[in-house]
Amino acid sequence: MHRPDPHSHYDAAQPKARRLRLKLGVDFADKRIAGDVVLEFGRAIAGPLDLDTKGLEIHSVQVPGHGPIPWDLGEADPILGQRLRIEVPEETTEIAISYRTGVDAMALQWLEPEQTEGKVAPYLFSQCQQIHARTMVPCQDTPVVRVAYQAEVNVPEGLTAVMSAGPAGDEALGNGRHLYRFTMPQPIPSYLLALAVGRLEARDLSPRARVWAEPETVAAAAWEFAGVEDMILKAEGLFGPYPWDRYDMLVLPPSFPYGGMENPRMTFLTPTLLAGDRSLVDVVAHELAHSWTGNLVTNASMEHFWLNEGFTVWAERRILRILHGEGAAALGWAMGQKALEDSLERFKDQPELTVLRMHLEGIDPDDAFSSIPYEKGARLVAALEQEVGEERFLRFIREYMDAFRFTSITTEQFCTFVGAKLPGALEAVNAKAYLDKPGLPDSSPKFRSVQLDAISTLASGWSSGSRPSAQQIAAWKPAELQVFLQKLPRQLSQSDCVWLDEHFQLMGRGNHEILVEWLTLAAAADYEPAFPRLREVLLRVGRMKFLRPLYGALGLHARTRALAREIFAAASPGYHGLSRRVVQSVLEAYPA
Ligand code: BES
Ligand code: ZN
Repeated sequence: MHRPDPHSHYDAAQPKARRLRLKLGVDFADKRIAGDVVLEFGRAIAGPLDLDTKGLEIHSVQVPGHGPIPWDLGEADPILGQRLRIEVPEETTEIAISYRTGVDAMALQWLEPEQTEGKVAPYLFSQCQQIHARTMVPCQDTPVVRVAYQAEVNVPEGLTAVMSAGPAGDEALGNGRHLYRFTMPQPIPSYLLALAVGRLEARDLSPRARVWAEPETVAAAAWEFAGVEDMILKAEGLFGPYPWDRYDMLVLPPSFPYGGMENPRMTFLTPTLLAGDRSLVDVVAHELAHSWTGNLVTNASMEHFWLNEGFTVWAERRILRILHGEGAAALGWAMGQKALEDSLERFKDQPELTVLRMHLEGIDPDDAFSSIPYEKGARLVAALEQEVGEERFLRFIREYMDAFRFTSITTEQFCTFVGAKLPGALEAVNAKAYLDKPGLPDSSPKFRSVQLDAISTLASGWSSGSRPSAQQIAAWKPAELQVFLQKLPRQLSQSDCVWLDEHFQLMGRGNHEILVEWLTLAAAADYEPAFPRLREVLLRVGRMKFLRPLYGALGLHARTRALAREIFAAASPGYHGLSRRVVQSVLEAYPA
């Protein structure tokens, strides 16, 4: 027995599924999916087969033509879930499992109509990364295994289903239900399975890109992301032809726990990106870049997550630089530096979670999640780029993609490849310090610009009275204001808050990065005029990146702690299970 992924029961001695055929019946009344999945192996297999499940009700396991076969559900592990062991008879090529999802499947969030923009119909969306696909489908839930898939999704008439796949037709079933078909011909890791069902409308942005959203937001979404084709072209210039045919996007309801999720052919996005000024499209650049770094070349397990995210952050800033110039990229690196410092501080007592090559046996990957694989990882990639020069590095990246396309790799495989193609480069940048040592090496690349230096100087002089001029205030772009706010002292006075809100009109900002940065400062200052806006944001938005700092800052004063507890009690039924867990852990760390 050899289990290559500490977060899966997958056994490398056993055969890998090659393709899934899914039938999913979406039941909004019960908040469950009734599922039939056929695992195709593409050849005759036999013997024990271990699948991942979590909270699933297994009804039957069959081999078509052979009938029911024996299966056994193992003990429930709080992180891994239950192993489903199937005794596969000789000459089997496919296995059919009939099942139903559990009521608290972590991959699924079932929204009441009131939690949507339109407020008239329910909504369902999935989020399978890291290891939640097993709460939706019994499968080999590890990126070591890649599967193509086809799916039929049965939903209430009037609702639309989308998946991380190409559309393959739909039909009214006549009984108040509607069937949507999908096909994903390219092999993907299970964490990229994705489904959303709701009142949806689409707008074409280019021949190969469209955006889906509720009818109430689709126009705003189409405006915000109108530049996506240009982004795809720039990304293709860097990484080669876009490998997934279409690039569609879905703007979700505000409880979506992430900024974006790179589901292939259907990036999922938080509606908090709809700033009204296209100032947050770097998240689209990021999810688009995953089409190469992550979806095409994939981490073999969460222990190598930096291969997905570090490369993608680097790629995102590379795209940004081409689109908006060196200054914009430098601001991106500065925002990343702040996120990295916050994460290093959060894990100061768990330095083992600050290395890139992680050891996650017995650790829930959602608990190990931080900006470290993103920003420390991106800095390692940038260091390699600076070491060998841009041109040579881009050639290397193309070779890397060619060598590993549609495979899932480890840090060791990556290092071996770099060793062969860029001899000496890993040693020259001291890659070992990034991979296996906590913290950030002093030698890591620094990203500066004149503008960034000016902003830093202003912010660090705040306590001694330096203030941006009226001219600067008028000229700053959203990213510049965001970095300025991030660099201010964490503990401001009430009059500091009054000054900031008056001069920057912060309370009414549509850019949620700015709004949340401001509300975090205001919460830490116990600044009462911000409480209503804080409450509004915390009741509406479930994005973990925002909830963590906001609830964290509310922990600093007795009055704001009481406010946080009161808001959480009201908001938590509307939060995604993942977000609820994060906030709970923040509240538990409050002083008694
Ligand atoms: N793949 C991630 C989201 C994710 C990570 C989901 C881990 C589940 C577990 C996605 O690509 C991402 O990184 N999103 C970021 C955006 C970004 C610009 C860094 C986010 O959600 O904030
Ligand atoms: Zn990412």
